[in-house]
Amino acid sequence: MPKTLFCPSHILETHLFGKTYIVTGGNSGIGYATAEHLAKQGANVVIACRRIAEGEKAKTLILKLNPSAKIEIMKLDLADLKSIRNFVNVFLAKHNELHGLVNNAGVMYTPQSKTKDGFETQFGTNHLGHYLLTELLLPTLKQSAPSRIVILSSCFHDKAQGREGKIDFEDINFEKRKYDGWEAYAQSKLANLLYAKHLGKRLTASGVTAVSVHPGWVRTNLIRGFMPVWIQNIMLKPILKLAGMIEPWEGAQTTLYSLLAPDVEKHNGAYFSQKGIYRAKEATKGGWPLHSPNPNAHDEVVAERLDQISRTLVGL
Ligand SMILES: NC(=O)c1ccc[n+]([C@@H]2O[C@H](COP(=O)([O-])OP(=O)(O)OC[C@H]3O[C@@H](n4cnc5c(N)ncnc54)[C@H](OP(=O)(O)O)[C@@H]3O)[C@@H](O)[C@H]2O)c1
Repeated sequence: MPKTLFCPSHILETHLFGKTYIVTGGNSGIGYATAEHLAKQGANVVIACRRIAEGEKAKTLILKLNPSAKIEIMKLDLADLKSIRNFVNVFLAKHNELHGLVNNAGVMYTPQSKTKDGFETQFGTNHLGHYLLTELLLPTLKQSAPSRIVILSSCFHDKAQGREGKIDFEDINFEKRKYDGWEAYAQSKLANLLYAKHLGKRLTASGVTAVSVHPGWVRTNLIRGFMPVWIQNIMLKPILKLAGMIEPWEGAQTTLYSLLAPDVEKHNGAYFSQKGIYRAKEATKGGWPLHSPNPNAHDEVVAERLDQISRTLVGL
């Protein structure tokens, strides 16, 4: 089985005093581990979450570990464009700098449903919500350069339980074809990768670096649409661990590397992957960066069209 990739310790020990980061979904799983580590390194961390009470619980936990941590909890529901605009207004009223935006929040294998604005839930939350958030924060990221945008994709952008990741522009919201939860997840995660790729191009020479990430197969709450979390965390834990599942702090390694390693600036738009499940055997050990084995991940025309359509859908 391939080895877990770890961010070099000197990068994880760099002081981040005076730097500000937003982590969406930072109350749980990989986002929590990311926020906790950034706070440990001295950064100001804004945890953007849809359930304030869960955010406050995360803040209490982080402060217990590190009483001098600088953590703010702000409300953000990525399945509601109005909430995203409100979040940005509240953030910008308090901060004039942003050194890193971690688009981490996500849902997987949800039953067929729609966001508040009528988008298919996985595409709407995982991609469109983060698209609007990023575009609204871009001026601040540019002013604060050098800065980074890290977008959580997944190895399932390649194939999710056998469904190849592709963007269906004729039916992006699954209104004409039969809904399939894995197909929708794969589409949303390919959109995450393509958006980072296109941003990398758009942001050339701006001092802002955008990349996408596969964090590994990580023991988090993401599984909840597929099986009860307790089955993963208790009953199946030893077996899943043997099969390659990693813990959230390990899952945060690729995000932290992408956010903090100086080398990443040379790879604007690239995809950074922990070990993962890919159609090509050589890709399974991951890579920082990794060439995706999915040909749809390299189609510049699709990336450009996705950018345009996303802009229209979110009302920009
Ligand atoms: N775990 C894995 O094996 C794995 C593999 C590949 C990629 N990923 C990606 O990693 C990212 C983090 O997931 P995770 O594994 O850490 O799962 P997780 O523990 O379920 O965390 C997901 C976070 O996203 C938040 N979220 C969901 N919908 C939201 C919305 N509408 N608005 C705002 N926040 C919302 C959740 O909030 P609540 O707590 O309120 O639900 C939670 O904080 C996701 O993008 C996922 O696709 C994970």
